Parts: sequence; structure tokens; C-alpha cells
Amino acid sequence: MTTVSTETEVEPDYGRFAIGFDQRDRARLHALIDEVLDSNRWSEATMTSRFEQAWEAWNGLPAVALSSWSGGALAALHFAGVQGETVLCPSNTFMATPLAAIRAGAQVQFVDCNRDDLCMSFADFEQKAERHRPRAAFLVHIGGHIAFESELIAEYCAANDIFLIEDCAHAHGASWNGRRPGGYGDAGIYSMYATKTITTGEGGVLVSRSPELLEFARGFRNYGKPTYEVHGLNFRMSEFTAALGLLQVQRMPEIVAWKNRIARQFLDPQFPGSRLELPDGMVSGLYKYIVFDRLEQSTGRVYDEPCHRVLGHQVELPNSDWVAANHSCPPLYYRPLVAGDTQAGLESAT
Ligand SMILES: Cc1ncc(COP(=O)(O)O)c(C=O)c1O
Repeated sequence: MTTVSTETEVEPDYGRFAIGFDQRDRARLHALIDEVLDSNRWSEATMTSRFEQAWEAWNGLPAVALSSWSGGALAALHFAGVQGETVLCPSNTFMATPLAAIRAGAQVQFVDCNRDDLCMSFADFEQKAERHRPRAAFLVHIGGHIAFESELIAEYCAANDIFLIEDCAHAHGASWNGRRPGGYGDAGIYSMYATKTITTGEGGVLVSRSPELLEFARGFRNYGKPTYEVHGLNFRMSEFTAALGLLQVQRMPEIVAWKNRIARQFLDPQFPGSRLELPDGMVSGLYKYIVFDRLEQSTGRVYDEPCHRVLGHQVELPNSDWVAANHSCPPLYYRPLVAGDTQAGLESAT
């Protein structure tokens, strides 16, 4: 519900689900779609590279567009050579993360999280790495912020030849002292699924500073063409999807700034002392606004059941169990323009 209390104070309707799309981009989207229609090239053409360049401009790392997060994860896992090896994975994540490793032929060992950031714990990671000698590891940036121990985990992986894949499925728009997700490890993979901070309905983006991995991923998404040395399948993004992605990534900083403004102005005062606190210099993309409480009015929890329980692994991960039972996510959706708002009010809210 939109509450207009004065000419300059408008509370936007952030509590009702909305796709992270700015209606002001509608006309430009239609023009880009017309461009694709007229080009007679609906796949493997310039819109995909324009989207990738726009992504690189935001992320600071070269990008490869894919049809989903899964395609990027499988490319990175195969590149790392995980078949028959162990991959470490936090249990507090979506099942996509361990399932990708299992599908790539690896055994998964689960790692506990911290209670303050919901992300992988360095102490438990170090113990599990000593015990299981993994070929690769996932680090998942839960909820839209960057995992607080990213640097420690990345340093350990670099020193011990562990291929580190950042699961950036939630991390659009995040930064930590100017550093973006995907630049800590060997690869970062974003999801553009329909509920994400910005979305193309379906889609994914892999970023990396390794030219070899980028080349591998370009082959992996396209049956290994032209040499067929890489045995990938079809994980291509269509030109129509890329047109939407191009607008979305250009609009992302504004979407994230809006969500942060609304969080500070309207949500923080409702949850004093119970919201997740970020370290200095970190900006969350606020895919989720996380509080350590059980709330009735929420979008539920980031995850209800840790993956080690879903898969029946006999391992004690007390923080993952604690987090599943002790947090909620009050809704925060991008909806800057609402019929009936005054312009003065909108300017104050956006
Ligand atoms: C943490 C995490 N990893 C991976 C994925 C999978 O993304 P996609 O559906 O684009 O393959 C998701 C999607 O929700 C996710 O939340």
C-alpha cells in the first residue's frame, strides 16, 4: 500500500512482489527488440556482446553471457577438472550450488556458515579443506552482500591450488570498498532468474580474469564450436534476452541505490538491533533484506533447509541450522513509480 503523508514523503509499495525492471526502459527495450528483429540474427550476434561489454563495465571483469547460472557453473567446474574430485560447498545455499558440482561428477562436502553474514565460515572451510583436499570450492554471497570472509578464503585457495568459484546469483550491485563480486576467486557466476535484483527472466553471466576460462566458457555454451575440443552443450543466451540484459545492467546501479535508500528510510527504523549489519565500505545489492528474527510479514527465509539436510549428509553444521531457524526477510521490491504518487514525493523517495 502506498502512503502519502505529505507532499514530499511517499512510502513506495516495496512490500509487494515486483520484477526488478524500470518501466522507463520499456520504450528503449521495444526499440532494441526491433533492432534484433530487423537484424535477422536472433542468436550469437552483437546484442550478446553489447550485454557482455555492459556487464564488464559494471563488474570490472570480462563477462560471458549464458542461458542460466547452471551453464556458467558447469563450465567453471569442468574447466577446473572436478570430475572424481571433491568440491567444498556451503550448506546454506540454494540446491543449485551442490547439484552443479554433483552433475559435473564431483563429490560434495559441506561447510558451515557464519551467523553474522550467513556465508561460508573461513574456520570451518580451512578444517574441511585440510580434511578433504578439494579440487574446487564454492563461495556463495548470500542475500546480496559479499561474504565477509571472501578475502581469507580466496587467499587460502590461491595458496593451496583450490579453484574458487563465487556463486554470485544474489550479488548483483554489491561492492566492498569498490571491489565487485566475482573478482575474489577464479570465476564468478550470476543468475538472471526472474526473482533476482535485475533479471532477464532466465539467464546467467560468468566473469573471470582468466582468458583461458573465458575462452573455455564461450566454447562450453556452444557445443565447443568451432574445434569441438570443449564438450559443452547449448547454454547460449538469445539476442532478445541480451537486449533486455543490456538495459537491466545499465539500470542496475540506480535500482540498487533505490533499494538501499528505501531500506535506510523505511525498513531500518522497523528493525533496530535485529537487521544484518554490514562491515564498513560494503554495499549490498539487497536481493534480500535480512533480519535475525521470525517475522510473519516476510518473504520467508533465504533458505528454509540447509543443503546438507536436504541431501542427507551426516555432518554437524550448527550455524547453518541456526541460520535456517533464526532469520526472516521483510519484502523489498523495486517499484519506484506508483500511480497517485506526487512527483515531489517520488523525487524524495527515489
Ligand atoms: C545461490 C544460487 N545459486 C544458483 C542459482 C541458480 O540460478 P539459475 O536458476 O539461473 O540456474 C540460484 C537461483 O536462484 C541461487 O539462488
